[in-house]
Amino acid sequence: MKTLKPHRKIQGALTLPGDKSISHRAALLSLLCGESLRILNFSDGEDCAASLKAVQTLGCTVESSSKRSLTITPPQSAPKDSVKIDCGNSGTTARLLAGILSGLDIPAEIVGDESLSKRPMKRVIDPLRELGASFAESAETLPLHIKGGAHGSLNYRMPVASAQVKSSILFAACAGGGEVAVIEDVRTRDHSERLLKHLGATITTHHPRVELKEDPNDPRKKTRTVLDDWKARIVVKGNGKLAGGDIDIPGDMSTAAFFFAAAAIGKGEVTIENLGLNPTRTAFLDHLRAIGCETHVESRVTISEEPRGVVTVRGSKLKGRKISGALAAQLIDEIPIIAVMACFADGPTIIRDVEELRVKECDRLEALIDNLRRMGAKVGSVENDGIVVEAKGEMQPTDFKSFGDHRIAMAMSIAALFLAGESTIDDADCVAVSCPHFYELLDSIKQ
Ligand code: S3P
Repeated sequence: MKTLKPHRKIQGALTLPGDKSISHRAALLSLLCGESLRILNFSDGEDCAASLKAVQTLGCTVESSSKRSLTITPPQSAPKDSVKIDCGNSGTTARLLAGILSGLDIPAEIVGDESLSKRPMKRVIDPLRELGASFAESAETLPLHIKGGAHGSLNYRMPVASAQVKSSILFAACAGGGEVAVIEDVRTRDHSERLLKHLGATITTHHPRVELKEDPNDPRKKTRTVLDDWKARIVVKGNGKLAGGDIDIPGDMSTAAFFFAAAAIGKGEVTIENLGLNPTRTAFLDHLRAIGCETHVESRVTISEEPRGVVTVRGSKLKGRKISGALAAQLIDEIPIIAVMACFADGPTIIRDVEELRVKECDRLEALIDNLRRMGAKVGSVENDGIVVEAKGEMQPTDFKSFGDHRIAMAMSIAALFLAGESTIDDADCVAVSCPHFYELLDSIKQ
């Protein structure tokens, strides 16, 4: 049980460990590299450690030259006997690895902790089967018994907006020499596409075709028609090998969100250096502006295909906002902290189309409803896929419940800073899944 003391004055500068999504991809793709891969600013979270452990089990050697800098050397040959890989709490490890091992024909059993063992796996098994992979049973959850065989071709329209599913298919094609086109109706984070390009894969992202036609009544005007009904079509032709080299990982926007939210609620100011600014991950900065904060971005630079820069957020009086559709998908990891900010804003925040939150590390919709009500917020559920959150007077200190979920623990710990007395939270150590030094980092911006 951790005690959370109130502290309203938030100001300072931080540098964060590497982005979790990119770190997973870098570690796992080392299995396909023809030479060593040097990774700078690898995430220090337990989730990414699960990906590192997985590649070590599969024969990679991992050397760390300095803090958060790693060199992964792939094995000369793949293991012949079936290996058991424990992915812990990490859905990204399990799903992306399922793709790679299916393409590499490495027999394996993938297992995970209690939370991961409940999370849906059919969403990756179905397309991998279409690509030729076979699995020992028709499991919908872990354990997964992988046999290999993903060497075919596939044209796959994503039924669910999921970067993990997309990446699993793309990685399977790269590993197994297959040819795939993945069609997204809702754009999801594109770190896999960028990293595959960086490592020399044959990958192209097509955007919807646009036709511009002159207006017959006014030649100065043009009408714009989008000819395709999807948002992206990603085509990969695999050959089983990628180049090695260097990958420099920027700071994690989804972790930054918690510190920016503290500045937003406390009318403070937080600057984060070397922060990832991939456009598929910056919707949280747009959200901060939409609810009344000032944001400032400088020193933009792109390294290893990933843009980054120095970002400052200045808090102000906050207001509610409606989030739904594609925007909800882009903000999916930030919804817990957005819901917390809603408790300190004027007017309701309506969050729709986030049913996916029910199958994250915990049922995040239920966890939010429970915790926000504990501190006195007015929270209603909208059908089965959303919530409406509104402040009801002053929020009260309380005993928060983390549900063993890192993002719930961090979100409620930020809320506790702005309550009129001490709160507590159970199992606060679960923050280590993505940000082991969360409380130290937070202390460093308390003035
Ligand atoms: C992730 C994708 C998202 C996200 C998760 C990390 C990734 O999950 O919630 O934290 O690294 O690809 P889905 O792809 O399942 O939506």
